[in-house]
Amino acid sequence: MNIYEAVSSRRAVRGFSNRPVSREVLERVLSAAAWAPSGSNIQPWTIYVVTGTPLTELKTRAVERVAHGDPWDERQFEMYPPAMTSPYAERRSAFGKERYSALGIARDDWEARQRAAIANWNCFGAPAALFCYIDRDLGRPQWADVGMYLQTVMLLLRAEGLHSCPQMAWSQVRETVAQTLSPPDRLILFCGMSIGYEDPMVSYTRTGRAPLDETVAFVGG
Ligand SMILES: Cc1cc2nc3c(=O)[nH]c(=O)nc-3n(C[C@H](O)[C@H](O)[C@H](O)COP(=O)(O)O)c2cc1C
Repeated sequence: MNIYEAVSSRRAVRGFSNRPVSREVLERVLSAAAWAPSGSNIQPWTIYVVTGTPLTELKTRAVERVAHGDPWDERQFEMYPPAMTSPYAERRSAFGKERYSALGIARDDWEARQRAAIANWNCFGAPAALFCYIDRDLGRPQWADVGMYLQTVMLLLRAEGLHSCPQMAWSQVRETVAQTLSPPDRLILFCGMSIGYEDPMVSYTRTGRAPLDETVAFVGG
């Protein structure tokens, strides 16, 4: 698979088969991803890979908690600004429309939306997940480094025939995750990532992107 194929075939997969992901493959991917760049090479990511019984138990606890309607954990970072301006508000709303219409859910059907959202904490059926933490003392450039690292992981997973879904949803139940992982206090959970082989029976709509001239300006030649 060339790099263009890896980039274009990576998408947020929300339906995985239960085919296990071998430790060997995960180690190969994460060893290669370590070559992602970071300012001053500080490599500001801390990753926990969870599979098997610990993941099954974590999913069960998280799903039960959300289904029960427990409040989210206190936020350590804002997922989005409280008032999203243009063009981001429109893009987010277009995404929501696409996602829920693909699932056959009406926009105002909150119960159905909640049921769909709960699949997040079951890792959409994936048999493996990683949890990505960043030190609370680090700043915005280091959060950007973490993003580059995660994209590197997701592209390498494609090279192994695997798919992924990055999930900030896990930060909403970070204390439940911490029960399994016991991370040091200085770490903030940025996101989880479901990892596995795609279930081809689960239908999806490919998300679109803004046209190039909306996000890129060429200056000069
Ligand atoms: C940092 C980050 C957090 C995300 N969190 C979630 C999430 O909690 N649940 C989910 O279903 N998708 C999540 N996504 C996936 C995005 O919705 C998805 O990447 C976006 O809509 C573009 O679609 P695509 O990745 O399929 O191309 C997240 C993506 C990123 C990069």
